[in-house]
Amino acid sequence: MKVFVVYCHPSDDSFTKHMCDAFIKGIVDSGNEYILSDLYKMGFDPTMTEQEYLRDAYYRNTPDIASDVLAEQQKINSVDAIAFIYPVFWTEAPAKLVGWFDRVWSYGFAYGEKTMKMLDKAIILCSAGNPIEQLEQFGLLDSMKKVMLGDRLFGRAREMEFIVYDNTSRENELREKNWDMNLQKAYEKGYSFFDQGENPEA
Ligand SMILES: Cc1cc2nc3c(=O)[nH]c(=O)nc-3n(C[C@H](O)[C@H](O)[C@H](O)COP(=O)(O)O)c2cc1C
Repeated sequence: MKVFVVYCHPSDDSFTKHMCDAFIKGIVDSGNEYILSDLYKMGFDPTMTEQEYLRDAYYRNTPDIASDVLAEQQKINSVDAIAFIYPVFWTEAPAKLVGWFDRVWSYGFAYGEKTMKMLDKAIILCSAGNPIEQLEQFGLLDSMKKVMLGDRLFGRAREMEFIVYDNTSRENELREKNWDMNLQKAYEKGYSFFDQGENPEA
């Protein structure tokens, strides 16, 4: 089985990078495969052009899809599952990933007479500086889940999961305290992602 990891963080000096690496290690150790789009390293352009806007706005299923968008769409249709890994920025994904959806989820691919395959699974692994209680208290966690699961992924994957690694802000002592435990969790999530075999490191 193969998962497409869409990773979006501006810096390797981050918890999110370690979490992404741990998840991928789990995938590989369980005998599965992955492909990766590291949106910052690729220099993915999140800005929708006017031509792309008009194509979507007028529901035109024309073949003029930009090559960088087409490459992402082909990756999606070549895998069984997708994983999105990112830090929460202002109760959303980083702008680069939001723009990835604007462009890659094009008319005729992700909606309309869509050619996007139905994925077996989709998972979101995100890090949040704030404690989960604070995100829950203001309804922010719900809104993040609704946008990702109820809109972007809705009807595009049979199973969906949204996981938050909270308290990851550098001023929070729990960042360091929970570091190893959180990376182990991410590893195990990758290892059991396709529910195969036993986890040797559990
Ligand atoms: C521009 C920006 C916006 C952020 N917005 C939020 C937010 O809305 N909620 C939250 O819990 N954390 C927020 N954070 C904190 C990040 O989610 C947190 O720093 C990150 O997950 C820490 O992990 P890292 O080491 O991978 O960057 C924000 C951070 C930045 C830089």
